[in-house]
Amino acid sequence: MELSHAVVAVLLACSAWLGGVQAVTLEVKEGNSTCIKAELSASFSIAYDSISGTSTAQFPLPDSAAVDPGSSSCGTDTDSLSWLVAVFGPGHALGLSFSSNASLYSVANLTLQYNLSDSTIFPGANSSGVVTVVSASVGISAAINTTYRCVSPVAVSVGGATVTFSGMRVEAFMPGNDLSPTESVCLADTTSTTAPPTTTAASTTAAPAPTPAGTPEHKMYSVKNSNGTDCLLAQFGLQFNISYFSKSQNKTVQDLVNLTPSQTNASGSCEASRATLVLSEERDTTLSFTFTLNSTTKKYHLSGLSLLAIWPDMTAQFSASNTSLEYLRSTLGRSYMCNAEQTLIVAPTLSLNTFGLQVQPFGVITDQFATAEECQMDQDQMLIPIIVGAALAGLVLIVLIAYLIGRKRSHAGYQTI
Ligand SMILES: *[C@@H]1O[C@H](CO)[C@@H](O)[C@H](O)[C@H]1NC(C)=O
Ligand SMILES: *[C@@H]1O[C@H](CO)[C@@H](O)[C@H](O)[C@H]1NC(C)=O
Ligand SMILES: *[C@@H]1O[C@H](CO)[C@@H](O)[C@H](O)[C@H]1NC(C)=O
Ligand SMILES: *[C@@H]1O[C@H](CO)[C@@H](O)[C@H](O)[C@H]1NC(C)=O
Ligand SMILES: *[C@@H]1O[C@H](CO)[C@@H](O)[C@H](O)[C@H]1NC(C)=O
Ligand SMILES: *[C@@H]1O[C@H](CO)[C@@H](O)[C@H](O)[C@H]1NC(C)=O
Ligand SMILES: *[C@@H]1O[C@H](CO)[C@@H](O)[C@H](O)[C@H]1NC(C)=O
Ligand SMILES: *[C@@H]1O[C@H](CO)[C@@H](O)[C@H](O)[C@H]1NC(C)=O
Ligand SMILES: *[C@@H]1O[C@H](CO)[C@@H](O)[C@H](O)[C@H]1NC(C)=O
Ligand SMILES: *[C@@H]1O[C@H](CO)[C@@H](O)[C@H](O)[C@H]1NC(C)=O
Ligand SMILES: *[C@@H]1O[C@H](CO)[C@@H](O)[C@H](O)[C@H]1NC(C)=O
Repeated sequence: MELSHAVVAVLLACSAWLGGVQAVTLEVKEGNSTCIKAELSASFSIAYDSISGTSTAQFPLPDSAAVDPGSSSCGTDTDSLSWLVAVFGPGHALGLSFSSNASLYSVANLTLQYNLSDSTIFPGANSSGVVTVVSASVGISAAINTTYRCVSPVAVSVGGATVTFSGMRVEAFMPGNDLSPTESVCLADTTSTTAPPTTTAASTTAAPAPTPAGTPEHKMYSVKNSNGTDCLLAQFGLQFNISYFSKSQNKTVQDLVNLTPSQTNASGSCEASRATLVLSEERDTTLSFTFTLNSTTKKYHLSGLSLLAIWPDMTAQFSASNTSLEYLRSTLGRSYMCNAEQTLIVAPTLSLNTFGLQVQPFGVITDQFATAEECQMDQDQMLIPIIVGAALAGLVLIVLIAYLIGRKRSHAGYQTI
């Protein structure tokens, strides 16, 4: 009955040179043998009551997440469930229980435990203590002796929360100590034309990377609220300036990559003082924008940006985010516009170049942009033709005056003769 978790390891596929947060590796062991191994990234979106109404906490599963040996288990003869429980921060936990029969294993349920007393994640929460929510419909299953693989983001709703996994490779009831080379690929990964078929030998075939640079194409993106009306509008061409470790070149490269509008879908949410736009490209790029409205000053700005990417040439998932940005400032009831190329620095490893940008994250009334407040660069560029025009007009005037004076003089001259 008693389990000795000789080694319960949390490894980080950590790459300091990348700067970004990498996927977390979690292992449950019994004696010397591993029964569950998971490599994944996860992010949480949790709605909670706060002093300012309903708020949403959004945060990733941190690098520091560790398998809890007390509540994780490989299962016993009498209890065929095995548990992977990762704990992080002050009293937060994510648990997956696995069940199996002769041919398949699956996640029986997902448990999320979060501590509302943690004011760094749940600022202004009007209740405290630990909340536990469970979901029994997770939809993760794979053939025995194969690795479940899902590079695409997979969202699981649990209570008022959403857990989004990405770059996931997991196996339970493992025959060996390492992930089986044969993979069961999730549906989301197989719907792409280039994806390998379900249950295939591990291969390096992966999704196409977003198209290489040039000037990026434009697209209009929108987010709708629950009654189906647009509540956030955005249009731009977007280019990633990203530094990552290249598999093919075996070194860190600085790359310019365009977002491909035809392969990009928009989603997001609109709240009173916070709006998010999430752009998902195919199955390997997720870019989120968070806009914040200050209801006192009626000013809004882009406060957060985050990118999760798993491109074919990457050795590990790329992740970069910054929640203390001060970009795209404008006023409630107006849109923000910047036709000139603009650079949004997110982290040392990532910046975004925007082209012909216009956004309105709050106060959208007619499914159309309100009057725009233009960025300084556009205003400067508009000044150039005005200055040139004024200078030309001045020149014409001077020439005209000189001509008139000259004419008068010569006229007077003739008269004296
Ligand atoms: C674990 O491995 C060590 C060294 O490889 C060995 O000495 C020990 O007996 C093993 N323990 C079990 C329970 O298999
Ligand atoms: C907590 O927040 C909810 C929703 O904003 C509100 O209805 C409730 O009265 C609040 N409770 C307390 C104790 O402040
Ligand atoms: C919840 O968070 C608070 C504040 O960080 C901490 O004091 C408390 O111990 C945590 N609760 C649990 C069960 O870990
Ligand atoms: C295992 O479970 C799956 C789904 O629950 C079912 O379709 C399959 O027939 C089961 N296999 C056996 C051998 O019981
Ligand atoms: C989740 O799994 C545990 C362990 O089997 C079980 O006790 C619990 O009832 C399950 N919860 C749900 C909602 O299915
Ligand atoms: C899984 O692998 C183990 C060890 O290689 C083997 O004993 C078992 O029969 C395999 N099970 C299936 C369903 O292939
Ligand atoms: C849609 O809902 C928002 C609040 O969620 C409300 O302000 C707006 O008037 C509604 N629009 C329509 C057409 O019902
Ligand atoms: C990309 O980023 C690097 C490093 O931050 C910078 O030197 C370079 O000028 C940027 N390139 C473009 C086209 O924005
Ligand atoms: C990558 O580079 C390192 C050192 O620069 C070298 O040791 C390693 O063999 C290289 N790997 C490949 C696959 O070329
Ligand atoms: C709104 O702006 C005012 C003035 O800049 C500032 O004092 C206040 O803290 C801001 N409120 C929020 C919620 O950021
Ligand atoms: C976030 O952006 C701010 C402003 O550009 C910068 O000062 C800060 O260093 C960035 N934080 C991280 C973690 O990159």
